[in-house]
Amino acid sequence: MSEPILEAFHLLADNEIKRTPALAPWMNLLQAGLEDAQPQETGEQYSLPVVEKHFIKTLSKGSGLLADIVSLSADRLSWGIPYEEHVGEPDMDELRDNYAFAPIIGSQKGNRSEPLPAPLYSSDQIYVGVVLQGPHINYPPHVHRAAEIYWTVAGHAEWQKGDEWSHHEPESVLLHEPGVRHATITNESPLLMLFAWVTNPESIPVIVRL
Ligand SMILES: [Fe+2]
Repeated sequence: MSEPILEAFHLLADNEIKRTPALAPWMNLLQAGLEDAQPQETGEQYSLPVVEKHFIKTLSKGSGLLADIVSLSADRLSWGIPYEEHVGEPDMDELRDNYAFAPIIGSQKGNRSEPLPAPLYSSDQIYVGVVLQGPHINYPPHVHRAAEIYWTVAGHAEWQKGDEWSHHEPESVLLHEPGVRHATITNESPLLMLFAWVTNPESIPVIVRL
């Protein structure tokens, strides 16, 4: 592996195993996926209004390895919007106007979104990338089969996992096991995150209406 972005993720996983030993099995899956990731042509790059408005400014507030990983990727990222099937639902329209994700590693087909952003590295084992959520936005409860790890790069937010709410500052790590319902509500700050799906990378997230 001689790709700086992949090496940085590898180091991030090593660091996380030391900081949070309970995450070791998930970090091992991430590192296994990194071994097989291959650089690929990304084609057309897409941006979105929420990205133009918040991405660079929010990234400038990050620091350390997390911000380095995003910075290494930033110029080549292509951004998409999930949940096209929820267009017309007021809360989801608000989310879709103020939320974007950009894959760094994953399958060419990726997850369902529009535009369809291409990852910088191909992998059938993991789906890894950047997420940006604008201020005062509620990403409602949702589930997916993928095991998901989030790192907060900049900004802070309220997170729901199952029935429990918690507040997380920058450089936090969060684990959502497969099938666990979770949600994120931002406050006055945009929230910039790295995510890693280390199982079932082709999962489609499903909104849970209670
Ligand atoms: Fe999720």
